Order: sequence, then C-alpha cells, then structure tokens
Amino acid sequence: MCGIVGYVGHSTGQVNIEHKALDVVLEGLRRLEYRGYDSAGIAVVADGAIESRKKSGKLSNLIGELEGNPLPESMTGIGHTRWATHGGPTDQNAHPHLSDGGKLALIHNGIIENFAELKLELLNEGVTFISETDTEVAAALLGHIYRNQLGGDNSNGGLTKAMQLACQRLEGAFTLLAVHADQPDVVVAARRNSPLVVGLGEGENFLGSDVSGFIDYTRRAVELGQDQIVTITADSVEITDFFGAPAEGKEYHVDWDPASAEKGGYPSFMEKEIHDQPDAVAQTLLGRSDLEGKLTLDEMRIDPELLKHINKIIVLACGTSAYAGQVAKYAIERWCRIATEVELSHEFRYRDPIVDENTLVVSISQSGETMDTLMAVRYAKEQGAKTISICNTNGSTIPRESDAVLYTHAGPEIAVASTKAFLAQITAAYLLGLYLAQLRGNMFQGEIKDVLADLGKIPAKIQEILDHEDRIKDLGVEMANAKSVLFLGRHVGFPVAMEGALKLKELAYIHAEGFAAGELKHGPIALIEEGQPVFVIVPSPRGRDSLHAKVVSNIQEVRARGAKTIVIAEEGDEAVKAYAEHVFYIPPTPTLLAPLLSTVPLQIFALALASAKGYDVDQPRNLAKSVTVE
Ligand code: AGP
Repeated sequence: MCGIVGYVGHSTGQVNIEHKALDVVLEGLRRLEYRGYDSAGIAVVADGAIESRKKSGKLSNLIGELEGNPLPESMTGIGHTRWATHGGPTDQNAHPHLSDGGKLALIHNGIIENFAELKLELLNEGVTFISETDTEVAAALLGHIYRNQLGGDNSNGGLTKAMQLACQRLEGAFTLLAVHADQPDVVVAARRNSPLVVGLGEGENFLGSDVSGFIDYTRRAVELGQDQIVTITADSVEITDFFGAPAEGKEYHVDWDPASAEKGGYPSFMEKEIHDQPDAVAQTLLGRSDLEGKLTLDEMRIDPELLKHINKIIVLACGTSAYAGQVAKYAIERWCRIATEVELSHEFRYRDPIVDENTLVVSISQSGETMDTLMAVRYAKEQGAKTISICNTNGSTIPRESDAVLYTHAGPEIAVASTKAFLAQITAAYLLGLYLAQLRGNMFQGEIKDVLADLGKIPAKIQEILDHEDRIKDLGVEMANAKSVLFLGRHVGFPVAMEGALKLKELAYIHAEGFAAGELKHGPIALIEEGQPVFVIVPSPRGRDSLHAKVVSNIQEVRARGAKTIVIAEEGDEAVKAYAEHVFYIPPTPTLLAPLLSTVPLQIFALALASAKGYDVDQPRNLAKSVTVE
C-alpha cells in the first residue's frame, strides 16, 4: 500500500532525453500518493554516490525539503510514498533506507515477516540500525550480501545477484527497489505478493507500484510475475527468478490516459468519480452481450462444463467490495439458483471453510492488491476451487493469480473511498450471474435479454440522480455537525445501508452504522432519540409488497421515537411522505438493480458533509487506497 517509482535514463549529452530522474520520480509519486501518504522519500545515484532525501507527512513536505536541500542532477533514481506498517510515520522510518556505508538505497512496499530473525543475525554480524522498520533490515541484508558475500564486485552480477540472494532469505510480501553507487545506471527490483510493473520507454525505463507511476511517460507496461527480479537500465529490461533463471514478462498497453486520472474539473477525485458512475456502469456492460442478449465474457477462461457443475459460490472481498458482493448475492441466487455465500476475506481462511472443486470463488477487488483477499483466493485455490476475479486494475496480482477475470472498466479510481468501482463491481457481478444462468439454463435467453436491457438503462438513471444532486448536497452541509447517523435497508437495500454508513465513516470521521431494517426492534432501536438522523432505503412499491410495507412501518417506528428520517424512495412512492423529513427519489427500476441507484444519494451526502467539515475527501486520515498488508 505504498507508492513506488524507479527510473533510469541516459545521462545528458548522450541522447536528447529531457527527463531527469528527480522530475520523473516526483511526478510518479504525485500520481501514486493515494497509495499511502504518511511519508515520502527519494534517492538518486550521482557522482559515484547515493544522495537521498526523505520526510514524514505528505509528498509536499518532501518537495519542500528538496527546495531547501536540492539533490544533484541524475538519470537514475527511486522514490517512495509510505503507509506505515512497521514503525510510525517519522522521518527516520521513511524510505529510502541506506546500507553498505551509504552506498546502497532501498525502498519497499509490503511486510518482511521474518525481519526480526534477520535483524538479530545482522546485529550479530556487527550491523547497526537507526529505524524501527522491516525495510531497513532488508536494506542491510542486501548491502551485507553485496559487500561481504559478493565482495562488492560488479563482475559477478553485482546488485542483481545480491538481490537474488537476499530475496531467497526474505519471507512475507515485498516489492523492493534498490540502487547502488557502484552501478549508476541500474535500478534492481524484486516482487513477491506485492505489486510492481515495468514501464518501457525509448532510451529510458520505469518501475511503478502501478501504471500511474509512469503513465505520463509511456503506456507500454510489463507485468511481473511472483518471485521475479527485474534489472532496468536506460536501454534494457532483464527479468529473472530469485535464483537467476531468466524469465519473461507479458507486455500490455495501458489504456488509461493521463487526463482520465486527473480530476476533470471537479474539486476532488471523489466528486469526479461519483460523476464517472454512469460511464463506469456503461463501460462495464460494453461488449459483453450481443443483440440477442447472449453474454460473451471473453476473459472467462474457465471450462463452461466445469461451471455447469458448480454447487456453491463464495464471494471474497473487503470493505465496500464486500458490500458489492452482498448486493450481488441476491441476484445471483435468484438467477442461478446456486447457494452464494459472501465472506470477508480476512475471516474466510481461518474458519475451515467447506471448499472443493465444485465451489466457485469470486473475489471482488478494485485494486487487485488487497492482501487479505489475495491470501484468501490462494487458500481457496489450494482447496481446489475455481477462482474468478472481479477487478478494476489491469495486470494486478489477484486477477493474475485467478483462473479467470471479469474486469470492471470503471477507469482509475484515485479517491481512497470507493464509489464508481462499487457500482461497476455490482454490474460485473450481475453479468457473471446472468452468464452462469445462461450457461446452466436457469433463465430463458429472453429473460436474460430483459435484465440486460434494464441494466442498459441504469447509466441514464444514475445521471438523472446526479443532475438533481443539489438537494442532497444541501442536506450534507446542513448536517455537518451530526455526531451519529444510522442507515436502514432491507433485502438488497441492507448492503446499501452498510455502504452508506461506511462512506460517512471514511469521509467525515463520524459514527455511522447500517442495519437491516428488520433488525431494529432486536436492539438497535434503543439508539433512537430525539433528532437522531436515520436514512432509510425503501424498496420499490412495485416489487414484493411485503418488503415495501414493512420498511415503511420501520420508518414509522423510528419517527415515533423522534428520529429525523431521511428516505431514499422510488419516484411516485407517496406512502413514505407522511413519515419522512426529507425524501430523495430515484428513478423506477427493478428491485434487484435498485442498489445501482439508491447508493448514489448516500455517496453525495457523505461527500458534501465531509467537504463542509473541510476534510480531504480524496485522502481521508488513516486510510490507504490499496491495503496490501494483512
Ligand atoms: C472503500 O471505500 C474502502 N476504501 C475500502 O473498504 C475498500 O473497499 C477495501 O479496502 C477493499 O479494497 P479493494 O476493493 O481494492 O480490494
């Protein structure tokens, strides 16, 4: 969950490359800051030495430091933005970490699980440490191997060989980038259970935790596999395994353009991404069915015959992605008649789950790097399950390690709080459900076509809600001093209530809780007091009447106890008006698809309330966009 950038270009005078390592690395870190931002640092190789600067706090603090204490010009450099795991976010603990007498610099993303025993071993060899981090142990090990085991001699592979030997000793999750004063035109990197991609340029090459790190310079990328080491120079990229055997990386074209990763004129990525949602749903649907409504999921690399014998689906995800899975469960069970469980990834593998070759595991992850979900998918594969990844990040680890992938085409989601990816994930999960129903004959082709037609109308309905967002924004501003907000929903509205609460927690740092509306009388109703704000997501009156009537009576229950009721209901639903202080209507749509609409006012509300409090809605405190540690 850190941002990592590496760069090697030609030294000036050789070719007319205008890029300097410092410019490239800082631009990359700026784009990657959402991956972690409690400290940042950079190291360059210049005049036979390593020069580095690092500062706690956001990237702007490092930039300030560089203005006062500039680095020498260089064409080789590495940079890092950190989300603290071992050791607090201090200058000392910031990366890079140095070793080999200051001649080697290393940056790291992940957790070295055996760092304590390695540290003891190195201390016994007389190595000293100045930080609390596992990263410094990795730097010291690398420097110790380079100097003592290889004699600091480049003739036998130098830094690359040292990295191979060091990685053979390391356990856990790591992306490592290293530079050494003895090799001024080389960056060496390694990855295990943590993201790393190579950017291919002309007379220059790049490394990044994801493609945002170098998207301004090249869109040619190479994904690295597990336990691989890459050595880049200005003109070469060499990949090996941890034992030096040559390996291949798969080149792909990055289809994100720099503009789409910017804010597009909105005050925040979060607001931009909420408004990207019509397109995110439309793009996720695009090209996945023909005019007859026949689904063609081309990334579905699982034998259809196997899918016909699936007797259980387990959805694995965390946070907002888990709520997407909970919404999808209702649709998948209704369409496919396959028992579907939704599990929090970090709970799944510790409960001895019942998984076998007839289990289909569907992971949902925007980043494709969430360690909890990655480890759960690995466990499921070991138990014989087939695995499908619903993911928004091309080339990321979870889809790479799954049997098949269904990419959500929501485009880059930069804001830490997930919005467009959530709707795209629900959409992709619906497509998967319909695909399975088509394959197994649970639905007629005409029925599938009707659902796809309803899905095709969703982008315009989301846009309609966005076009009338001012009222919900005003409510967010009006409630800026709220201390606690409750969210109620039933059926598919229940996970929407949970997601609405999570958005408010993440963005406004206030207590918020989502409940199943029917659960209220079993305890939570004790929370209701005069003026307590309660959002209620009301199902369509055109659906199962019992559902609608019961939720309306839930509104009465809380209203009678003094709650301030804010209702999300379908246009034309007059029954709610008598019990609601505020009603926000959404366009009519089938019950199972309603979450794609009822979520949007809750996102807008949370954004407006947090903005009114003056909070950074793109990088909320304590959070990171991709949680790549367990
Ligand atoms: C969502 O707003 C949160 N940032 C968080 O719950 C997130 O959904 C969760 O960490 C899972 O991330 P992923 O989708 O990248 O796996």
